Formats: sequence, C-alpha cells, structure tokens
Amino acid sequence: MKLFVSTMILGLVGTTAMFAGDAAAGKAIYDAKCKMCHGADGSGKVMKLKDIREDSDADLKKSVAEGWGKMKAVSTVNAAQTEDVIAYIRTLK
Ligand code: HEC
Repeated sequence: MKLFVSTMILGLVGTTAMFAGDAAAGKAIYDAKCKMCHGADGSGKVMKLKDIREDSDADLKKSVAEGWGKMKAVSTVNAAQTEDVIAYIRTLK
C-alpha cells in the first residue's frame, strides 16, 4: 500500500512538471535560440533590447510563436519548449 501511494505521488509530480515547464531543459533551449540576441542573463543590453525578464508569460509566448516587432517568430521552439524557456527565464535575476 505504501509503495502504491508513493508511486501515485511520483506520477502526479511527473505530470505537473510536464505542464509547469522544466527550467533545466529551458536553459538548453534559451542558450541555443535566444541567448545570442537577449544575452546570457536576459537583460538584452548587448543589443540594447528590453529586459525580457520583465516580460509576462503571455508576451514571451507571443514573441516566440508570432514574433515581436523586429524579432521573427522562433519556429524551431514549440509551445511546450516555450514553457521550459519561460521557467528558465524566471530563474534568472
Ligand atoms: C535574432 C535575434 C533574436 C533572437 C534569436 C530572439 N530574439 Fe527576442 N527579440 C529580438 C529583438 C530585436 C526584439 C525587439 C523587437 C522590437 O521591439 O521591435 C525582441 C523582442 C523580444 C520580446 C518582446 C518584448 C521585449 O522585451 O522587447 C520577447 C518577450 C522576446 N524577444 C523573447 C525571446 C525569446 C524567448 C527568444 C528565444 C526563444 C528570443 N526572443 C529570440 C531579437 C531576438
């Protein structure tokens, strides 16, 4: 019974992690797809961009999916990967 309950809890944690975004996975994506323009810390100061750490989840999702002003959509990053990138950006600062 104890083992059954632990397995259930592990299962739940695993499912939540899938939805919440994985910061470690997000770092790899951020480093490959965003860092060259927005900087290692997200501040964007190298290219004089706005600090993406200040942006809402909705704005981050929109910029990646649809583009933002002069930034083109990042079509190689899907919605689930965007959640991971957001989770990573929230660890910066
Ligand atoms: C080729 C360079 C480049 C890459 C790669 C890039 N961006 Fe951008 N991004 C820009 C530029 C330039 C702007 C400002 C566009 C404007 O205001 O016209 C911008 C704007 C944004 C904005 C809008 C709000 C703001 O702070 O200006 C967000 C959010 C954002 N980028 C997130 C990302 C994320 C997340 C990634 C990686 C998946 C990414 N960007 C990859 C160049 C880039």
